[in-house]
Amino acid sequence: MLKGKLVGLRARHEDDIPILRAELYDDVVNGSRSEARPWRPITPGSQDPRLVVDDEEHGRVPFSVVESEGGTLVGTATLWGIDTHSRSAHIGLGLLPSSRGKGYGTDVVAVLCHYGFVVRGLHRLQIETLADNTAMLRSAERNGFVREGVLRRSAWVLGEFLDEVVLGLLAEEWEPAAR
Ligand SMILES: CC(C)(COP(=O)(O)OP(=O)(O)OC[C@H]1O[C@@H](n2cnc3c(N)ncnc32)[C@H](O)[C@@H]1OP(=O)(O)O)[C@@H](O)C(=O)NCCC(=O)NCCS
Repeated sequence: MLKGKLVGLRARHEDDIPILRAELYDDVVNGSRSEARPWRPITPGSQDPRLVVDDEEHGRVPFSVVESEGGTLVGTATLWGIDTHSRSAHIGLGLLPSSRGKGYGTDVVAVLCHYGFVVRGLHRLQIETLADNTAMLRSAERNGFVREGVLRRSAWVLGEFLDEVVLGLLAEEWEPAAR
């Protein structure tokens, strides 16, 4: 278990799956805004990689996010696109609707930075998000990520093209306590 101030990041448990499917991935708006592919329903029992973890897939490490106090499941966090040559990776996260806006997202980014920089020895972490996703942008910037560019009208989201922002953080810039 990786521990933050408010949340912990642990392995995916079997009983996380129906909660994540119902509260996160069945949500068409959230799915359309969070993923770079069309939303489609996940068939119960399928091995969809958003829910079922393949421990042999070395380029992607999915976590379940739980509250530090009580251990209630609040969402998912992933280090993905791990490039061991350039020592870079991307981070992604999604919280259940009832757990947003409580500071958990900022804490999850902090824990993923610790995992990426300290545990994995990476040099660069990157986040891509829609330009209107203020909560994600702030969660990243509170941890030291800087906006490196805008991908103009790069994402098709529910009937319109939206801008995406690319944010990056280098190991030497990271201040673990800068929260
Ligand atoms: C994006 C997300 C992970 C952020 O986590 P969170 O726990 O909601 O964010 P926090 O409570 O840590 O808040 C971070 C900052 O955003 C602000 N914020 C939170 N919710 C906000 C909202 N709905 N609108 C505007 N600002 C918001 C907070 O005030 C805080 O700002 P501050 O640092 O200036 O004080 C979470 O909202 C989420 O899972 N959203 C849906 C999925 C998603 O968008 N994932 C990212 C895809 S790239």
